[in-house]
Amino acid sequence: MCPPVHFAVEYAINPWMHPGVPVDRGLALAQWDALRRTYLGLGHRVDLLEPVPGLPDMVYAANGATVVGGVVLGARFRHGERAAEAVAHREWFHAAGFPRVVEPQFVNEGEGDLLVVDPGPGGVVLAGTGFRTDPRAHAEAAAVLGRPVVSLELVDPRYYHLDTAVAVLDAATIAWLPEAFTPASQAVLRERFPDALVADMGDAAVLGLNAVSDGRHVVLPTPATRLAAAIAERGFTPLPVDMSELLKGGGGPKCCTLEVRA
Ligand code: ARG
Repeated sequence: MCPPVHFAVEYAINPWMHPGVPVDRGLALAQWDALRRTYLGLGHRVDLLEPVPGLPDMVYAANGATVVGGVVLGARFRHGERAAEAVAHREWFHAAGFPRVVEPQFVNEGEGDLLVVDPGPGGVVLAGTGFRTDPRAHAEAAAVLGRPVVSLELVDPRYYHLDTAVAVLDAATIAWLPEAFTPASQAVLRERFPDALVADMGDAAVLGLNAVSDGRHVVLPTPATRLAAAIAERGFTPLPVDMSELLKGGGGPKCCTLEVRA
């Protein structure tokens, strides 16, 4: 995670961002810290990335890399405003002693568009494209991460990253917004996850699907109440967090969290 010390909405690269709308950085920091403490309370470890002045989106750490089995696929950002974040992430992984840190050839926005389903050897990676990640990055991710990639095409600019339209709850369960995908990609997900939880437009519109699951607990934005109830019905424990300030940049809990699968 990266504290939102320099968080601001200074440019608009997704429809949630409105430069000029005031951002309360103190509140953003408090919300971010509550998210961090939620993970600590669940017994997870949280490492911090040093925030860099001039990179107001750096709080959205999920976009900086994808890590499976200790292998780090670095990011390459679509927009120049975020390009330098990729370097900071790679440096962090080098300093932390990760032996394989790959600088990618094609644009991929890390776990924004690459969602690991089951970190074990039988797992796959769901890979989004349409707005940010280059479709050619999908084969690159498969090669680097050593697992099959399922390509999915996003169609709604509000759900510009895959992690705004799909939440991976455990190895067999996702929650998703079908309307965010092409009909062909909807068919792919229906076939692979017949028991998927379908979110409604209201829950998706508060970035309810931008959730983090450890397989038992699901951290999700507070306003996504119907989704939280549906998740609880499936036997998971929903843990709502208020991320209203970070929503102004187009992100929720998942965006602020990069999972390091050692
Ligand atoms: N303002 C950031 C952007 O548009 C938000 C990134 C949200 N991150 C995510 N994993 N969906 O790039």
